[in-house]
Amino acid sequence: MDEALIERIKADMHYEFERTAPPPGFPAFPDIPTERHTSEAFYELEQTHLWTKTWVMAGRAEDIPEPGDYFQFKRLGVPLLIVRGTDGEVRCFYNTCQHRGAPVVRDERGSSRRLRCQYHSWTYEVDEGSLVAVPDERDFVDLDWEQRCLPRASCDVFGGFIFVNRDPDALPLMQWLGKAAEMFAPFQTESLREIYRESVIVPCNWKVTAEAFLEVYHFKHIHSHDGVSVLDNRGAAMGLYPHGHSRMITPFSTQNCDRLGMASWDDWKAVDLGPYPTIDTVPNMVSCTSTAVSLFPNAIVPLGTYGFPINLFWPVDAGTTHLEWIYYAPKEWEGDELPEYWKQRRKVYNQIMDEDMQNMAPMHESMLSPALRGIPINYQERRIWHLHEQIDALIGPENIPEHLRVPQLLAPYVEEA
Ligand code: FES
Ligand SMILES: [Fe+2]
Repeated sequence: MDEALIERIKADMHYEFERTAPPPGFPAFPDIPTERHTSEAFYELEQTHLWTKTWVMAGRAEDIPEPGDYFQFKRLGVPLLIVRGTDGEVRCFYNTCQHRGAPVVRDERGSSRRLRCQYHSWTYEVDEGSLVAVPDERDFVDLDWEQRCLPRASCDVFGGFIFVNRDPDALPLMQWLGKAAEMFAPFQTESLREIYRESVIVPCNWKVTAEAFLEVYHFKHIHSHDGVSVLDNRGAAMGLYPHGHSRMITPFSTQNCDRLGMASWDDWKAVDLGPYPTIDTVPNMVSCTSTAVSLFPNAIVPLGTYGFPINLFWPVDAGTTHLEWIYYAPKEWEGDELPEYWKQRRKVYNQIMDEDMQNMAPMHESMLSPALRGIPINYQERRIWHLHEQIDALIGPENIPEHLRVPQLLAPYVEEA
């Protein structure tokens, strides 16, 4: 997030405020077919082609600091195990014993230089997942040890965040993230720590939850308090990155600028943020706007000068989502008890999440009704279309029934890799 990008975002906001229509030539989106959110068939396509080939955030490097430290990760619907090797690298294996399929480890987290299946003690080492011990080996005829290693998934760490991808030949994480990663550069993310986490099951499709965070068209309508919205959606400046990632920076409303002593929405200066320990390398734009990044497919991060929550949307079935949000920030106290100002922040953020969640289950119900024939998306909701384009790119349009596809329209608006 260098000075040139910040200046560009400011210029984009001026443009957005002044335009009277979408930019000339911007495509008219066909309706998004509602069955993309509701049908079992589309859910199965996502399960087969999307969640097996995408990077997702799985945890933090400091959770497994020592060689042999591991934790289980089950959010992708298959049991995975994330382990720090004896060489310090973090790797991901399937937690599935290659004898008769018992889970190799049962504890949610632990530490061991050898992964010994609790059932018959087949044992694997932690760097390659190689099988290194089989009790009563004499009773197996022609056991091929090489063939019985623990299967691997791709795994990498960015800024202290561990990502996994079930595709063992996945594009390297940093290439996948591309310039979206630059948005995190000023946040010293390695040194941030988990402050608190929440986890809710919501009866709606995972894309209904994700889409709620990809636009601010709704913001003043459901997040205003005493008639005041803190954001002015008309100036929202968006950037689309390759692979479905995107950013959205939304200016503050006049009332909010007044409250913070900003002369105007673009008076990006140091403002008083109260008692929170702040990250001093974060540009002023972040505390004078709403600055959010989405990492395809299921992470939305509203960045802040004193850290940020990561909202994660995990599909459980076509109509159920596990919604999690985990706040990361500089942590300057010992123990789990939050300081009073963080308890307050938690309350405020959770209330915003609650306002968003009010819509989710009822929307899914409506989508199942024949009354909703399709979903029209406007220019300021274009990050939603971008999400759907990338979903189709991963599934492969040839695998999707024609009436469920979305055409690829946004390529001219995607920034260079
Ligand atoms: S199932 Fe793991 S050792 Fe038998
Ligand atoms: Fe919202």
